This record gives sequence, C-alpha cells and structure tokens, in this order.
Amino acid sequence: MPEPLTEADRSHPAGVDMDELIARAASILVRARTLVVLTGAGVSKESGIPTFREAQTGLWARYDPQELATRQAFRRDPELVWRWYQFRRSLVAAARPNPAHRALAELERFLPRVIVLTQNIDGFHQAAGSSDVVELHGSIGRSRCFADCRGEPTLIDLAALPGGDAVPPRCPYCHDYLRPDVVWFGEPLPQAALQRAWLVSAQCDVMMVVGTSGVVYPAAALPRIAREAGNAVVEVNPEPGGITPLADVFLQGPAGTVLPILVRMLGGLSES
Ligand code: OAD
Repeated sequence: MPEPLTEADRSHPAGVDMDELIARAASILVRARTLVVLTGAGVSKESGIPTFREAQTGLWARYDPQELATRQAFRRDPELVWRWYQFRRSLVAAARPNPAHRALAELERFLPRVIVLTQNIDGFHQAAGSSDVVELHGSIGRSRCFADCRGEPTLIDLAALPGGDAVPPRCPYCHDYLRPDVVWFGEPLPQAALQRAWLVSAQCDVMMVVGTSGVVYPAAALPRIAREAGNAVVEVNPEPGGITPLADVFLQGPAGTVLPILVRMLGGLSES
C-alpha cells in the first residue's frame, strides 16, 4: 500500500500555477498501485466528437440527444434514432484518438495497474492502446437485437447481414429491429461493468476524472465512492463542475494539453 497522502498533497493554495499543480498530481499518481480513470465526452472533444451537452451540429441541431437516446424514442421512430446513431458512427469513423487518449494509454508504462472506466461509446481508449477499459455506456461500434432475443445482449454483426436497405436492419433470428449496443436514458448499465466500476472505485489508490460533467448517474457517483474510501481524486476539465469539490487536485485545462504534460512528469518521477 503506498504511503498515505499528506495534507500538502491534498491542499493546493489558489493561484498555484498549472505546472506546479500538474507536478502535484504526478506526485500523487506515481504512488498509485491502482489508478482508475473515469472519462466522459470531454476526453474525445479534441478528436472532434461533440460532447454530449454541447449543441448538436448540423442536421441534428434541432434534436435534443436526451430525446433521441431512449427506448421510447426508438419505438416511436426507429428509423430516426437509427439514422442519428449512423450519423454519430460516421463522426467516430472519421475521427481518431487524440493526445489525451494516448497519454492515458501511456500511463500503463509507469503504473502497475490502470483501469479506464469510460462513459464514452467511441472505442477510442482501446484504439489508443489502453488495455483495461470498462465501457459503462456500451459501444456505438456494436449493434444488437432490440429484443435481445438470444439473451442479453444479442449482438449482431452488421457486416454479416444479407444486403438490403431496411433502416434499421432486422435481427436475423427474430426479425425485430437492430439497435446500437449503447445505454439509453432510463436503461440500466451493463451489470458486470457497473459492479466492476463500483469495486475498483472503492479499491483503487487514485481516481483521475477526465472530461465529464458528472451529471449522469450512476457513473457520476464513482468519484464520491473513491473519495469516501479514502482514495485521492484528481480532475482534468477546462471547467469546474459537480465533481471538482471532491478533487484533491483540479487541473483546469483541456485533456489533450494537460494529460501529455502529466504523463511526461510522471515518467520523470518514475525514473528518478
Ligand atoms: P458532457 O457533455 O455532460 O460533459 C462533457 C465534459 O467535458 C464537460 O464537463 C466539459 O467541461 C468537459 N470538456 C469539454 N472539453 C474538454 C476537453 N478538451 N478536455 C477535457 N474535458 C473537456 O458529457 P459526459 O459528462 O460524458 O450518457 O456525459 C455523461 C453521459 O451523459 C454520457 O455518457 C451520456 C450523456 O447522457 C448516456 O448516453 C447514457
């Protein structure tokens, strides 16, 4: 068990410059045997993927995502919801992991165990090389039968379906619609993912929270679980938010800038 955090670790007087804060965060991370990183849409912002609550762009600007990402919306207009996800798939397909994703993957070079709990559905953490990623809200890259007719989830490979222009495509087993394998509002999170997230949040030494507004539960409860278990919390976000009061160190800046500096400093500490 690494030595406990000192009060100096936890306190940082206002006005301390960013490099000093990042150095302080690095000195906390370097002692972690298990680092858990909770990420949200902000970590993919610099890949060009809109965050969940900023205005939707172009054709979809008039739709509120929270109105489209529900079972009721899909039942009401399956074609509209499927096309929205096809649009978002096209954004992900045209984008790449950014320096923030790559920096998080590089943490595995310096720390014994790094677990990424992501609310994102773009698969960029895995693409950047993170080896232990828990997808709390599923993945836009997967599709499944709306009825989960062969058990939950009944994943269906779109590429293996016979040609055809049905929108949404149909399940080859039961002929119900296919849907994206993502968590919609009002739906439970995948049980195994949630159980593991709760467990590692309580058992880690440090949780770093990157790019989430911390407004959607149960994911938003994880930093408090970490804090109440006595673990250190570091936050990276250009804006303070609901999680900031829980943070021992708040690194106010874009993840694509802050995380590469943090990893460089961590590397220096690990070699010293
Ligand atoms: P939000 O859109 O709610 O919040 C994005 C966060 O990223 C905000 O706190 C921004 O300040 C921050 N941010 C913006 N640019 C950033 C940057 N360059 N680097 C770091 N942070 C940046 O997205 P989430 O918090 O991920 O759930 O939303 C959580 C969940 O709410 C989503 O997974 C989705 C949504 O409803 C479901 O779809 C079930």
